[in-house]
Amino acid sequence: MKILIVGGGNMGLTYARSFVRAHITSRLDLRLLARSPQRVAALAAHELGTVWGDPAQCVPGADIIILAVKPQDSPALFEAMRGLVQPHQVVLSIMAGVRIATLREELRTPKVIRAMPNLPAQIGMGMTAFTSTDEVTRAELVQVQNLLSTTGKTVYVEEESAIDAATAISGSGPAYVYYCMDALMTAATQMGFTPAEAELLVSQTFRGAVELYSQSGLSCTDWIAKVASKGGTTEAAMHAFGAGQVREGLVAGAVAARDRAEELGK
Ligand SMILES: NC(=O)c1ccc[n+]([C@@H]2O[C@H](COP(=O)([O-])OP(=O)(O)OC[C@H]3O[C@@H](n4cnc5c(N)ncnc54)[C@H](OP(=O)(O)O)[C@@H]3O)[C@@H](O)[C@H]2O)c1
Repeated sequence: MKILIVGGGNMGLTYARSFVRAHITSRLDLRLLARSPQRVAALAAHELGTVWGDPAQCVPGADIIILAVKPQDSPALFEAMRGLVQPHQVVLSIMAGVRIATLREELRTPKVIRAMPNLPAQIGMGMTAFTSTDEVTRAELVQVQNLLSTTGKTVYVEEESAIDAATAISGSGPAYVYYCMDALMTAATQMGFTPAEAELLVSQTFRGAVELYSQSGLSCTDWIAKVASKGGTTEAAMHAFGAGQVREGLVAGAVAARDRAEELGK
């Protein structure tokens, strides 16, 4: 399986490293396309595959073409790739907000997969939602799912609208977690801990709580009930969160992110 990654930035490099590390492809079968000679040279130094500067030299012959450039660079990319993509090739785009209909139309090709990864993909702990056009075969979908799985977990969604929803939940999600962590670190320093102690207390608490949750069959509500005893400290915190409408605020934030994702895709 010959893979071409277009764009060797954060995500392009993450995929290249993950595919090679997982032995899902060999360096011989991996190609990267950059747009400047400087970037071609910088990418070549990583020794992850063959690096090209001209789409005409690397698009033909690829089985899977991964588009990992910024959405604002997509019009120029479409222009550069026009007429090069063949109908049997599978195009996988991770560009936020670039719709399947646009990819199909601009690249004039039927086999399109759209995916939304997130930042922890960099350490193999990512979450990726993906969907595809009907023309992508089951075998091709499995191949792409195997590629995406080298960066973490994946979920296939039937409707493209679910990609906008996943953008709001798992795509932007790491920022929500950091927001909550940062608030707790502020509370910890206000209570007299040094910043280093606050960081340790909070990060280890998040790590432990998520791991405990993952290893059990219990829901978040079950676990809250286990921590919070009647008239105790956790219950006092829960009452304060309720009065501050913290839960409603987080839900409203996620909905706002989903609405913005829909807007950007128009
Ligand atoms: N980062 C994330 O966590 C994340 C999560 C979900 C989705 N995404 C999506 O992933 C995509 C890439 O994000 P990123 O963070 O990896 O961006 P990035 O670090 O800016 O990398 C984009 C790369 O694309 C290159 N490029 C632009 N136009 C090109 C062209 N015509 N041909 C070849 N290369 C080209 C850029 O080259 P130069 O170096 O020359 O500028 C740059 O190296 C975006 O569409 C984003 O929406 C990212």
